[in-house]
Amino acid sequence: MNSTDLEPTGDRADGPPVYPQPYHPVPDPGIEHTQRFTDAYPPAGRRAYAQVVGMLSLVPLLAIGFIVIYFAVPRGDYIKLGPLYANALNVGLSVTGGLMVALIGFAAIHWAKQLMGDEESIDYRHPMVSTPQERAEFLGMVDAGIKQSNLGRRRLIGVALLGALGVVGAPAIVLLSDMGPYATPSRIRNTIEKTVWAEGVRLVNDITYTPIKATDLEIGQLVNGEPEVIAHLSGEQKLQEIAKAAIVVVRMDPKSIKIPASRQNWQVGGILAYSKICTHVGCPISLWERTTHHLLCPCHQSTFDLGDSGVVVFGPAHRSLPQLPITVDSDGYLVARSDFTVPVGPSFFERDSRHDFQKGDN
Ligand code: FES
Repeated sequence: MNSTDLEPTGDRADGPPVYPQPYHPVPDPGIEHTQRFTDAYPPAGRRAYAQVVGMLSLVPLLAIGFIVIYFAVPRGDYIKLGPLYANALNVGLSVTGGLMVALIGFAAIHWAKQLMGDEESIDYRHPMVSTPQERAEFLGMVDAGIKQSNLGRRRLIGVALLGALGVVGAPAIVLLSDMGPYATPSRIRNTIEKTVWAEGVRLVNDITYTPIKATDLEIGQLVNGEPEVIAHLSGEQKLQEIAKAAIVVVRMDPKSIKIPASRQNWQVGGILAYSKICTHVGCPISLWERTTHHLLCPCHQSTFDLGDSGVVVFGPAHRSLPQLPITVDSDGYLVARSDFTVPVGPSFFERDSRHDFQKGDN
């Protein structure tokens, strides 16, 4: 068989194209309409109809239940399921949300199998532009399909389906509130732009939790640190604060680095502290090249020059690594002079970048 054997013959304006044999490599199995119980026995048809409507009608009730559970069940409550403990809110939302989707699916299947017409219809392939006759045929088929769906006679299914699909989005909208409170400028200032660093807070080693003395550090050494006050926090608050306040403390030969005039009193004899959070998308950084004073981010290779106020020398990051102003207390321990002067971490839309250190600033 070559390709021309498959060209249809006949005038398309006169009706559907006629394909030469052997066009179908296998016999057309066809689909015969077999009478269903619901076709032959009207009470069974009415029962199936009521079942479909019943299933769809439960969906709005479940949507209301979903929203009530979302607001009413405390987030810290757990329920025992056999040997397991599960979060009560998650169980409630999963059951109601899952049942909503399942009921719409079951109703659609039940409707299709028991009530919709199942006569086979054939749609021949043809060029994209339809003839007026084909368009009229198509509209006829659409009308026939609407009749076969029995929506005309059983209008309540259509109404119930529209109602079910309409409310099924409501729980999703409610869940948007879990994205957190709206980010007003003052909320941003007091949350993601603020850390627990403050004047007099000691720098501690993040493994041993011992305060770091200026005399403990050798030239070329890098230590991962965090604020001493973190030890007084717990749970989620502790994790959030560590994520913002983590630092690296490095000691370099003051003669081999650039210390701008505005940051002379931010360092102690070549000891400088920087945020450990990459300004690209927030990976923690501590790949330290002691001879070049470069700090390399393992995620996308952004490289910061800690000997030049943390400016970016390579990679996708656009902002210098924020530097923490430090000094020593009367016992010789390193302490912060203040919080970071610019927000730490990756950029976000509302962030004001005017105060970031730029290469060449003094
Ligand atoms: S997160 Fe550091 S380079 Fe991307």
